[in-house]
Amino acid sequence: MTNEAQNLQLRLKQHPTGIAGPGDFECVTEAMPTPAEGELLVQTHYVGLDAALRLIVRDSDEFLFRVQPGDLVFGSIAGQVIESRNADWRVGDYVTGSLGVQRYAISTGEGLERCDIEAMPLSSWLGGYGVSGLTAYFALYEVCKPQPGQTVLVTGAAGAVGSMVGQFAKLAGARAVGQLDAATPKLADVIFDNVGGEVFDATLKRISLGGVALLCGSVSQYVAEEMQGPSNYVHLGTMRASLQGFVVYDYAERFEMAREHMSNWVKSGQLQMPEHKVKGDIDSFPEAFKELYEGANRGKMLLDIRG
Ligand SMILES: NC(=O)c1ccc[n+]([C@@H]2O[C@H](COP(=O)([O-])OP(=O)(O)OC[C@H]3O[C@@H](n4cnc5c(N)ncnc54)[C@H](OP(=O)(O)O)[C@@H]3O)[C@@H](O)[C@H]2O)c1
Repeated sequence: MTNEAQNLQLRLKQHPTGIAGPGDFECVTEAMPTPAEGELLVQTHYVGLDAALRLIVRDSDEFLFRVQPGDLVFGSIAGQVIESRNADWRVGDYVTGSLGVQRYAISTGEGLERCDIEAMPLSSWLGGYGVSGLTAYFALYEVCKPQPGQTVLVTGAAGAVGSMVGQFAKLAGARAVGQLDAATPKLADVIFDNVGGEVFDATLKRISLGGVALLCGSVSQYVAEEMQGPSNYVHLGTMRASLQGFVVYDYAERFEMAREHMSNWVKSGQLQMPEHKVKGDIDSFPEAFKELYEGANRGKMLLDIRG
């Protein structure tokens, strides 16, 4: 059997401490999986590097589900069906889904999305057109609802979600800022927080009357041994502002509608989907994930394993 015909899987070796790195994962070679009746075999082209993975591999229960040492590392991939024993899927179909960090995956088709690569390149289905862009779209437009002329303060503004939030805010006629006092002489009507911790705490002093602070994520806290809450929350009370949680999957039934809007904006040149691609194989994932936490990316970080 050649190297290419084998599966390569990334498994969690241990719950990381601090920024996760190569020592926290191990690569395991497996025989090529074979689909049973009703299943299909997917070859991975791109693996998405999602900041939330660090929360999923914590030795704690803050997230919706967890990855334990020895488990396949959770990850969203975009790839192609190379074998099918399921009438709903054909060889050659492009798909995206949570199939884990591996070269090849067996699926029943449940939870998989078919990707129209005429509409958007395959990699974008993991980035702007995928969960990152959809998170920005629904959290901003459906929860924060910025009005023309208002100020949207985004933390983690250069990242996959943050870079889309800034563009969506401008499309709504609002002003998007990614830095605190210097760039925000005015108070912020919307605080879109991806970072948490001290950064988020500092933003609360800048919230406007009746403003909203959206907890999209808390990347700084995913690596912390003990998570810290904000001490400036009293400003929320004084300013009659609200603190709002958010999970993108609550909007799954309307993903298509959001993608249609995004596609039109891309075609008219009003929206870009920034990507930071790293070439490699499955064993390049741990180093790339470390770099994500060191802030190396501008836009969605993707591992391109097409060889
Ligand atoms: N609620 C939902 O449904 C949902 C869905 C998807 C994602 N999210 C959240 O969205 C946020 C962004 O995720 P993403 O996948 O798009 O990642 P990302 O923003 O592309 O990458 C993470 C960024 O965080 C910054 N960062 C890392 N450690 C930091 C620290 N200690 N302090 C401040 N900044 C730090 C780095 O940028 P710099 O160092 O350059 O600032 C890095 O580029 C995460 O909090 C994630 O959990 C939420």
